[in-house]
Amino acid sequence: MTELLLKSVSFSYPDGTKALEDLTLTVPSGQRLAIIGQNGAGKTTAVKLMNGLLKPTEGAVFVGDWNTKDYTTAQVSRKVGYVFQNPDDQIFHNDVESEVQFGPKNMGFDPERVEKLTDWAMELCGIRNVAEENPYNLPYSVRKFVTIASVLAMDSDVIILDEPTAGQDRVGLDLLGKLLEELESKGKTVITITHDMEFVTEYFSRIVVMANRRIIADDDSEYIFYNHDILEESMLKPPAVAKMANLLGLEKGILTKSQLLSLIKERDIAGGR
Ligand SMILES: Nc1ncnc2c1ncn2[C@@H]1O[C@H](COP(=O)(O)OP(=O)(O)O)[C@@H](O)[C@H]1O
Ligand SMILES: [Mg+2]
Repeated sequence: MTELLLKSVSFSYPDGTKALEDLTLTVPSGQRLAIIGQNGAGKTTAVKLMNGLLKPTEGAVFVGDWNTKDYTTAQVSRKVGYVFQNPDDQIFHNDVESEVQFGPKNMGFDPERVEKLTDWAMELCGIRNVAEENPYNLPYSVRKFVTIASVLAMDSDVIILDEPTAGQDRVGLDLLGKLLEELESKGKTVITITHDMEFVTEYFSRIVVMANRRIIADDDSEYIFYNHDILEESMLKPPAVAKMANLLGLEKGILTKSQLLSLIKERDIAGGR
């Protein structure tokens, strides 16, 4: 099993853009973690460091007991799979099934394991019915699931999903939720970058907030979405339900529709109506 550690990491792109400053983060094996924050905060850069696509300018990144600077991206990505923010940066086969099979084949898994993993990943991502299709004929939301399946099929201990909720409707979001639960039951570590605050509160108990190249909070949704300073610095908007509860003057900590409803019902009963 693989623990991740970013130790006092800074990163600058070759053109001099400073994307991360003194970032420290530990992700224990098997944990489900969300990273949130405005565009440009440094989220994608941080996760690319975790799978060895980028190497730190200062500090160190450890994947298990490997310091990523001593390993190639191909080696690190066997342990940490990364689903790109933009699916079109990742897809290069003419049909969905070949795309999903490529990773496990390339890793030298035996044919039986390749087939089993491909089936599992396609089923989990709801793309079995489009196995023969050209990924570029599919809508963006489905293409994203194709890229998720291609990473899942490689069976890495850690999986990073960069904005999987972008462009998804309710069906897609529910599918993602189920997928997260399945991966957790298999003991996988899953790191998800997302802008969907409802999704975050529904599925994640640990949330890292990034702003201006740094981590400004690492806590649960109840703490983060009721913390004025964090919301202001990160320019994030809490889930609509939290805003409503705030406006109604209800006690803190309400984040989901069902929590709000049961609180209102309780008050109705206590009020004798
Ligand atoms: N390839 C690149 N070259 C130069 N600057 C980049 C590159 N990629 C990202 N950046 C810059 O690094 C900063 C962090 O970007 P990124 O990690 O993509 O943030 P996020 O994923 O939170 O939107 C931004 O200022 C962005 O413009
Ligand atoms: Mg990004």
